[in-house]
Amino acid sequence: SSDIRNDLTEILVTEEQINTKLRQLAAQIDADYAGKDLLLVGVLKGAVMVMADLSRALTQHVQIDWMAVSSYGASTKSSGVVQIRKDLDTDIAGRHVLIVEDIIDSGLTLSWLLDNFAARGAASIEVCALLRKPEAAKVEIDCRYVGFDIPNDFVVGYGLDFAERYRNLRDVAVLAPHVYA
Ligand code: PRP
Ligand code: MN
Ligand code: MG
Repeated sequence: SSDIRNDLTEILVTEEQINTKLRQLAAQIDADYAGKDLLLVGVLKGAVMVMADLSRALTQHVQIDWMAVSSYGASTKSSGVVQIRKDLDTDIAGRHVLIVEDIIDSGLTLSWLLDNFAARGAASIEVCALLRKPEAAKVEIDCRYVGFDIPNDFVVGYGLDFAERYRNLRDVAVLAPHVYA
């Protein structure tokens, strides 16, 4: 069947849980950045859904930019080699930057991005990630806004892909091993 749900073993985080959590994180972000000029940087492609919903839950003015990096390709393991596929359009020197991510897995992508943004002279750099896998961390990321800590399973949906599929799932779900075995 072509129904995406046949490829999933378990719904891990529902659409409703995501929406509730993002509203809470947005309230914190609104409070923390009151009176500041905030630039949201989404990490393509996975962060598209988080950016869409988080940014619309904010009440303050923000700017939005995108960085496209990839380290996974068509695999379930990070290569650790981060490639820039699209750079920022914005000069972030002196800017308050909040990086918006779908997931912190090994942490390698964000570790690289944080170094890269720091070198451009941002005034402040924080991270908001909907999901984090503590057991998978290869490098510690100081993430100010975390949605959910999840087990070390390969998850898809709500922007997260396996081989570019499953991003359009409304929930976050565990991918059935038969799909990638
Ligand atoms: C995924 C995910 C994060 C990153 C997390 O992106 O969206 O950006 O990997 O993994 P890490 O903490 O181990 O680095 P991916 O490289 O698959 O690109 P995509 O967002 O286009 O799917
Ligand atoms: Mn990504
Ligand atoms: Mg991916």
